Amino acid sequence: MNVLQGSPVIPGDKSISHRALIFGALAKGQTKIRGLLRSEDVHSTLNGLKAMGVSIEDNGEEVIVHGQGLGGLKSPSKAINCGNSGTTMRLFMGILAAQNFSSILIGDRSLSKRPMNRVAIPLKQMGGHISLTESNHAPVQIHPASLHAIDYRLEIASAQVKSAIMLAALFCRGTTRLSGLTQSRDHTERMLQLFGVTIGVTDEQVISIEGGQELSGCNIDVPGDPSTAAFLIAAACLVPGSNIELKNVSLNPTRLGFIGALRSMGAQIKIVPTNEGPEPSGTITASYSQLQSIHLHEQAIPALIDEIPILAVVCSQANGISEIRGASELRVKESDRLEAIAQNLKSMGAQIDVFSDGFKIRGPQKLKGALIQSHDDHRIAMAFHIAGLVAQGNTQIDHPECVNISYPQFYDTLRDLCL
Ligand code: S3P
Repeated sequence: MNVLQGSPVIPGDKSISHRALIFGALAKGQTKIRGLLRSEDVHSTLNGLKAMGVSIEDNGEEVIVHGQGLGGLKSPSKAINCGNSGTTMRLFMGILAAQNFSSILIGDRSLSKRPMNRVAIPLKQMGGHISLTESNHAPVQIHPASLHAIDYRLEIASAQVKSAIMLAALFCRGTTRLSGLTQSRDHTERMLQLFGVTIGVTDEQVISIEGGQELSGCNIDVPGDPSTAAFLIAAACLVPGSNIELKNVSLNPTRLGFIGALRSMGAQIKIVPTNEGPEPSGTITASYSQLQSIHLHEQAIPALIDEIPILAVVCSQANGISEIRGASELRVKESDRLEAIAQNLKSMGAQIDVFSDGFKIRGPQKLKGALIQSHDDHRIAMAFHIAGLVAQGNTQIDHPECVNISYPQFYDTLRDLCL
């Protein structure tokens, strides 16, 4: 087992990168983005915006978006391909529903199996003209409409749904109010305020946003992605003798569930905040730790939703029975992640009980190298590559290049970290 040591750069946060491009496009004036994530998902957003007539320059250091203002998007000449990116498709639905031109959104095989009615339903209540396939999937067909404000109760703790409605709300007359499960990642709320939009959030977490507010272009520094950092943090905790330092990682509280979970399992992780900003960031250090099991329920899931595949690998090495429940959303991610976790842990010789909304794992279990089925899901590929570091024998990933969706440097960085 190779010890991990070093201080690698963590690429920009994917959620913040999508939003910086989209809000920059809707703003008046220029938006300069530093640290934008260069990955396939973010390229889907960038190319989609270009197809809507937005000019975007990249000088290597900064990405400059020439904002069109709320009314300035152009009709795309063909269907917009969102690739593998759920965030691109769902946030685009929010803006395209309010345009005076028609549009079509398509995606790859995985994205074309993911539920889109969770966004189409509220947008239709706002007056949007949207049709999906019979099974409520993409292609998404959107026809011209003028939208009106609504009060909507979110039944799923999804930042993509919340953000799509908030984007649509900008184009409405009146005030849109969101209640229910609003406590998912809050990058849209933070960034809209940075662009000069006034948003209300009550003590009961009801979000209100008045339509017609213009966004003004601004400068954005994208901090490192904590969901990307999670793979390296987990590797450092699992491989004896390891110690890594990650600078400028987002410390947005809605994204820190994985670090919180690891710490409660006994992991030695230190956080030093270095930048308060609209999106706080800081330095995270993690080192090898003896880990205990953990129990997590529904309320804890939104803050670590993307980290559950790597958390499952960590649980297989922790002492005791770990149980994660209330995570049925994992079944509709880039793959059915609960099935993919179970299939791959089993093929590495581990035992796991899978439920409709989670799993139970007794640890620590010895893992043996195996051929991993990534299902073209970046987070499954990366989680099981880390599992391979603590397994005996060789681990191979089927379609390893799917990591390009969020973290193209993953294998190189890991190789450089391993002494
Ligand atoms: C995201 C929200 C989450 C997350 C996804 C990115 C976002 O999805 O899993 O990777 O940028 O808003 P849901 O909104 O479906 O939970």
